[in-house]
Amino acid sequence: IFEEAREGAISVAYEIAELIRSKQKKGKRAVLGLATGSSPISVYKELIRLHREEGLSFENVVTFNLDEYYPMQPDELQSYVHFMHEQLFNHVDIRPENIHIPDGTLPIEKVREYCQAYERQIEECGGLDLQLLGIGRTGHIGFNEPGSSITSATRLVKLDPLTITDAAKDFIKEEYVPLRALTMGVGTIMKARKIILMAWGEGKAKILQETVEGRISDEVPASFLQQHPNAKVVVDQWAALELT
Ligand code: F6R
Repeated sequence: IFEEAREGAISVAYEIAELIRSKQKKGKRAVLGLATGSSPISVYKELIRLHREEGLSFENVVTFNLDEYYPMQPDELQSYVHFMHEQLFNHVDIRPENIHIPDGTLPIEKVREYCQAYERQIEECGGLDLQLLGIGRTGHIGFNEPGSSITSATRLVKLDPLTITDAAKDFIKEEYVPLRALTMGVGTIMKARKIILMAWGEGKAKILQETVEGRISDEVPASFLQQHPNAKVVVDQWAALELT
């Protein structure tokens, strides 16, 4: 628990930088699972600063994003492709071929096969060294809404009405928010060797309490993280308000 979100974000960025550097020393690649949304923005800011001012290189970094709206064109302002390039990729030396973000443009009949290939690609890279997560007010991680099973894999899902309401701020009107998304599954996330879940602000306090201290259940998919051997929750004092 950090007093301020900024301090928490900086500590997460340092941990990521440390992973990248230690892999680099061994001549290996760091495989990162990344999130979008407001929670990781300050982490990405600090990573960009470390790149610019302290020589942190992303040459040996491979990334897999958690999710993308469906349908979604990559050049739309609300796309996670656009978000990731604006917030991180355009500002560091990552190789374009090392970036993976679920493709929101696919025809529906190709989605299943594409999702299986996404899982395979992660495995072929040696699995995720670190998965970064935010949490939605429904308890979702990625877009694994309530009802998602612990073994779920990358797939097309329906967004929860509360998630659609929360996304409306990015789409002008609620009716413009896509009803569906492609997301890594809870099972995909659970295979990561290390997981960091971030939550900032009082709006996350209730769901964070249920996630960390509540019953493990698919009603709060993030609660499955209690069973992960190496998961960490990084929060500010406001998100921690309801922890006992
Ligand atoms: C984003 C994602 C979502 C968000 C969650 C929290 O890629 O997978 O699970 O992490 O909705 O969003 P923010 O950080 O905007 O509160």
